[in-house]
Amino acid sequence: MIDVIFGPWLLDRSRLTGAQVVVLDVLRATSAMVTALHHGAKEIRLFPTPEEVLAARAGAAVPVILGGERGCLKVPGFDVGNSPAEYATPATRGATILMSTTNGTRALLAVQDARRVLVGALLNATATADALLEEYIQGDTLLVCAGTEGQIAIEDTIGAGAILWQLMQRTLSTALPFTDSAWIAYQTYAAVRPRLGAGLRLGRGAVNLIRAGLEEDIDRCAAVDACPLVAQFHATPARVTTRRQGD
Ligand code: MLT
Repeated sequence: MIDVIFGPWLLDRSRLTGAQVVVLDVLRATSAMVTALHHGAKEIRLFPTPEEVLAARAGAAVPVILGGERGCLKVPGFDVGNSPAEYATPATRGATILMSTTNGTRALLAVQDARRVLVGALLNATATADALLEEYIQGDTLLVCAGTEGQIAIEDTIGAGAILWQLMQRTLSTALPFTDSAWIAYQTYAAVRPRLGAGLRLGRGAVNLIRAGLEEDIDRCAAVDACPLVAQFHATPARVTTRRQGD
């Protein structure tokens, strides 16, 4: 079965066993993570709270970059916020990033019991679809949307739809075991695909970014396949890396 879960609060956690999962937070956490990896970050360590990030810096053996947001804005004491642009710099190459965000990091930490967890965005939709195709007959495939503060987020649904769209392009088979939720995401993406930036602006996440003066990030996060890599989440310690052969 290939299913979309519109928010971690809607997830029956018993479904994680044996499943491969993709977590999406298109505006902006997973887009920022994928951008950082595309610019050579070694790993992104995830923490539930900013306090834990600041504490982790104190104990870090290697130079680290602190990144993340609360209320869309950079956390005091952090080096960068959550804009993909802040990770598209030479400083990111080889860096270990310590990150905490409101919804995206929380969603990833909520699915760590799954067989495999990938980090998805519009920026790496096709690479993620290809990785899912390798294993989708081995068990359920769940695309888990982070949402915005406990509310369903259309931008995450659009992101999930983009990955499902690529699955369909790749297999040319309407026999893919999509659930109704998967078809809703697929059709939502199909509807806004010609004007993706406008589609992403329909949601509350975009309104929050525009209010914070960060509208440009919406178009940065809409660049389909700009970062053609597979990003994998590892539970212990909680971190995201570029998938290497054999992962
Ligand atoms: C989040 O994780 O809540 C979002 O990515 C928030 C943001 O980027 O502003």
